[in-house]
Amino acid sequence: MSISDNELYICFTEVIVYFHWILILTMFNIILFGPPGSGKGTQSEKLIAKFGLKHLSTGDLLRSEIAKQTELGLAAKKLMDRGELVPDEVVVGMISSSIDNHPEAKGFLFDGFPRTSAQAQALDILLEQKNASIAVMLALEVSEEELVKRLMKRGETSGRSDDTNETVIRARITEYHNKTAAVADYYQQFNKVVMIEGEGSVDEIFQMLSNEIDNRI
Ligand code: AP5
Repeated sequence: MSISDNELYICFTEVIVYFHWILILTMFNIILFGPPGSGKGTQSEKLIAKFGLKHLSTGDLLRSEIAKQTELGLAAKKLMDRGELVPDEVVVGMISSSIDNHPEAKGFLFDGFPRTSAQAQALDILLEQKNASIAVMLALEVSEEELVKRLMKRGETSGRSDDTNETVIRARITEYHNKTAAVADYYQQFNKVVMIEGEGSVDEIFQMLSNEIDNRI
């Protein structure tokens, strides 16, 4: 018995739908949240290694644009050097492309994004288009003086222009309080926020974060 082109097409479509559902059922997305210097980058590296998530950091994406000296990167650098946020449409566009570029991802760890309520709403729409959502926001809590201390220390070696000057570091923290802290309220209305003590050893904090993820996977 031979298979017609029509039957082959139906069979192919069913396979695609099957894999689409597998993707929906297994995609696990989290936001690692917190002020500048709270340890998002440090913990992201360990979490993606343990849970096999794709790391999406808007700070890293922007610094990559700066290194390539693109028009977007050069415009962003002026704002970053003052400790100000880059416009929502720029970072949402970068995140949208990054999600599309990784169809194989079993989930994403968002680091430094979303940083405004508008970005949070845009992320929900992007994920909805993939029939996915945010499972949890893990929010690191660190005192302002500890943040400044960590970033000043990192500035001695990191080469990051936004780490070298205490005024800029404090401007980044102010920007966080004025525009970013409200993002936690956005996810709180869906009971998706878990606060994590962000002071202590890197391993202790990693253990607390891992436990929260393990409870949800
Ligand atoms: P971004 O790159 O996201 O930087 P940030 O949020 O300011 O965060 P950092 O990378 O400085 O800190 P972190 O929380 O990752 O901590 P880390 O692990 O590195 O953003 C940079 C800029 O880009 C923004 O200011 C903005 O202009 C722009 N931007 C980015 N995303 C944007 C968005 N969505 N919308 C608009 N604009 C955007 O740790 C810090 C230091 O502490 C390290 O030296 C580390 O070794 C140390 N450390 C970590 N954990 C511990 C610990 N437990 N104890 C002691 N030290 C520790």
